[in-house]
Amino acid sequence: MTPILYLTRPLAIDAQDYLGERAVVRVNPDDRPLTKTELIEAAQGAQGLISMLHDPIDVQLLDALPKLKVIANVAVGYNNIDVHACAERNITVCNTPGVLTNATADIAWTLILACTRRVREGERMVRADAFDGWGPNMLLGPSLQGKTLGIYGMGRIGQAVAHRAIAFGMDVIYHNRKAAQVDFSAQLVSKQELLKRSDILSLHAPLTPQTHGAFGRSELEQMKPSAVLINTARGPMVDEAALVRALDEGTIWGAGLDVYELEPVVHSGLIERDNVVLLPHLGSATMECRQEMARMALSDALAGVTGKQPNHPIVAN
Ligand code: DGY
Repeated sequence: MTPILYLTRPLAIDAQDYLGERAVVRVNPDDRPLTKTELIEAAQGAQGLISMLHDPIDVQLLDALPKLKVIANVAVGYNNIDVHACAERNITVCNTPGVLTNATADIAWTLILACTRRVREGERMVRADAFDGWGPNMLLGPSLQGKTLGIYGMGRIGQAVAHRAIAFGMDVIYHNRKAAQVDFSAQLVSKQELLKRSDILSLHAPLTPQTHGAFGRSELEQMKPSAVLINTARGPMVDEAALVRALDEGTIWGAGLDVYELEPVVHSGLIERDNVVLLPHLGSATMECRQEMARMALSDALAGVTGKQPNHPIVAN
């Protein structure tokens, strides 16, 4: 029997074309997240599920889809999946590591530069026809040369962000569970030191119970008043109410966010601020990257439903 895969959103490549006759791909025709009830109904009978980072894969869903053998998440992060519940049911979970490293590092740098060079305010000024000509004190921001970039989570993406900092003449410090093997100068420091010394602090750790809310009021209060916080990892690592308060009170200088605590809802206190730059979770959003993520997830899902070893399995720990 040809295996059935259920795809929760259309991908950047045509999934059925890619897999040919090796599997039947059923796709949510609407380009929107399905509710859990809709997903359970739509994916009945599927042996493989190709999920997105917004699909909550929990016990209720797993119990309602008893034929599942594999879940391939089209993301490197997999905090949306109860991996222990999957392991208990012998369901293999896969993600898409590596291919989105550079795209995500680029978006972190987009935010770093947009915040420090006040791109949002400048752009708005021009479009509002309020640009009356060059001014010696107009929209000045901090330079990066000689400043310190702090990386929280020195995995692939953290390292790619740090590597780019060398070209900007920045010093790199990082906090990680263990020392990273990198071929550029970067100093492993405690979280307190990271908070205290970073001019730009960029978050790249996975969302886990340990990192959930890791940047709240007390952490923000340890940062420099001139510091900028960048988050392209997962929103719930930052307490947004505490961030709004820190920005209001001048505890830190600015923030650049690609991800949100209650995504896609954005804290109202962030929306109108000039000293924050907000993007709609664009980290991996290059055409090449999304196509490669799609190919990886489809190949792994096919492997999982045909009794082969997928290339990117996640091990529950
Ligand atoms: C991921 O893959 O986890 C990213 O957040 C997608 O952009």
